[in-house]
Formats: sequence, C-alpha cells, structure tokens
Amino acid sequence: MWDYTEKVKDHFLNPRNVGEIEAPDGFGEVGSLACGDALRLTFKLDEKKRIKDAKFKTFGCASAIASSSALTEIIKGMTLEEAGKVTNQDIAEYLGGLPEEKMHCSVMGREALEVAISNYRGQKLEKEDFEVVCNCFGVTDREIIKAIRENHLKTVEQVTYYTKAGGGCGQCHPKIEAIIEKVSNEIDKGVSRPKPEKKKLTNIQKIKLIEETLGREIIPALKADGGDLDLIDIEGNKVYVALRGSCSFCPSAEITLKQYVEAKLREFVGDDIVVEEVRA
Ligand code: FES
Repeated sequence: MWDYTEKVKDHFLNPRNVGEIEAPDGFGEVGSLACGDALRLTFKLDEKKRIKDAKFKTFGCASAIASSSALTEIIKGMTLEEAGKVTNQDIAEYLGGLPEEKMHCSVMGREALEVAISNYRGQKLEKEDFEVVCNCFGVTDREIIKAIRENHLKTVEQVTYYTKAGGGCGQCHPKIEAIIEKVSNEIDKGVSRPKPEKKKLTNIQKIKLIEETLGREIIPALKADGGDLDLIDIEGNKVYVALRGSCSFCPSAEITLKQYVEAKLREFVGDDIVVEEVRA
C-alpha cells in the first residue's frame, strides 16, 4: 500500500475539474491506455488570456487522478506563460509529496499541460518528432532529458519512477544510462566526475585500449539487456562494430551506438573516436 498524503487521498477521492471543456482553447493528451496511464487536459482562456477553466479525464492510479486534479487547480487563473513554468515538482509539492515510485504521474500532468499550451499556440509537439528510447512505454529522449533536468535524476531506477522508461524488458537501460551521463555532464557545465587521463597513444596502444574498454565497460552492459557487439575493424580514429543479439534489430540502435558505445570509447580512449556500424 502506498503511503499517500491526506491531500493526495482527498484529490483522489474528490477530484476537482473532472471532464472535458467543449470547444477548448487548448487540449493535450499524453500517455496511453496500453501503458496504464493516460491523461486528457483541456483549458479555456478568459478575455485577459488567463486560464479561466481547466478540466481533465484520466485513466490511471490514485496518484494519476490526484496529480491531474491538482494540476487543474494550480493552473486556473494563470497566464499561459505562468502555466508553462509549472513543473512536475510543483504538482507533487501541491499534493504534499508523492511516493518517488509514483512521480511519473506528476510528470504526465506537466507533459499534458505542455502539449495543451503548444496546441493553443498552433505548435505541434508530437512524439514522432523525437527519438523513442523506451519501446515498452513509448518514452522519448526528450521526455527523459526533461525529467532528468527538472528532478536531478541520477539512476535508471529514478528515470523509471519519473517517466516509466526502463520499467519493462530493460533493453533501453544502456541508452537511459547514456542520457543520464550526457545530461549530468551538461548540468555540471564541465565539472564532471574525474575521467581517466588520456595520454597520446601509439596505434597498438589505442587498439588495445579500445578492446579493453569494449570488454570491460560496454559489452557487459549490452549483454545484460540481451544485446552484444563485435569489433570488426579499427582505422585511425574510426571503430567499426557490428551489433548483435537484441541490439541488431533494436529501432534505437543508432542511439546505443552514438550515445553509449561512442561516448564510452571517447571517455576512456580518445575524444576523436567515431563509431560506425557495419553489417557483418
Ligand atoms: S524498451 Fe524500455 S523497458 Fe523495454
């Protein structure tokens, strides 16, 4: 049983603003029934362009209903500029907190609001515009990056709690790890964790170090998710590899290759390493 606050229980048992506004100024729909959570948010503006009314329909657990209800209460009376700054943390705080495992409900609310505002502004914010990282839950790189940035996430488990990505077959874990590392480095603005010192290498040393890094850092992580990789050739700074196992038919193979394999080799071998896939 989840340890919900009194406010979460209240918004679950007595949800505010349930329904759908007719001829809304903006609407946003996120999630999917197949993934267990879905939310449709509609809003209407007044003559001063403030949110006069907001309603929601949701399919999900107690915290999804409470988060949606809280969201509609929070944004009423706001301008769209103000509403655009509402974060999932604001929704969780309004409710007196949510169990970390349920934070994805607050993220779903913030996403629905973002889509609804974009809809009002005539902008398209479609999933197809972004790379799907987690196929089990249809979560894109954009959603993961945003959740990491806004909530200072550090582990795959936390990303799963906040976005659901990684909560199924686990094949996307290396990609999520690579995204966490990339975003963390960006946040640190260059003050990242200490990296191995890179010396000028002879060709033989470079080949050895590439093989070692593949064997120690990269291949075990891919194997843990049913994938694998063979080193095919090395020419100067170019490393040619063939993806095997589940990686070979993964629709996000390019992300694995660039954001994980190439990033790791750059970290341990040299900043100029380029990884290319060959079918062999
Ligand atoms: S692809 Fe992400 S959990 Fe299956």
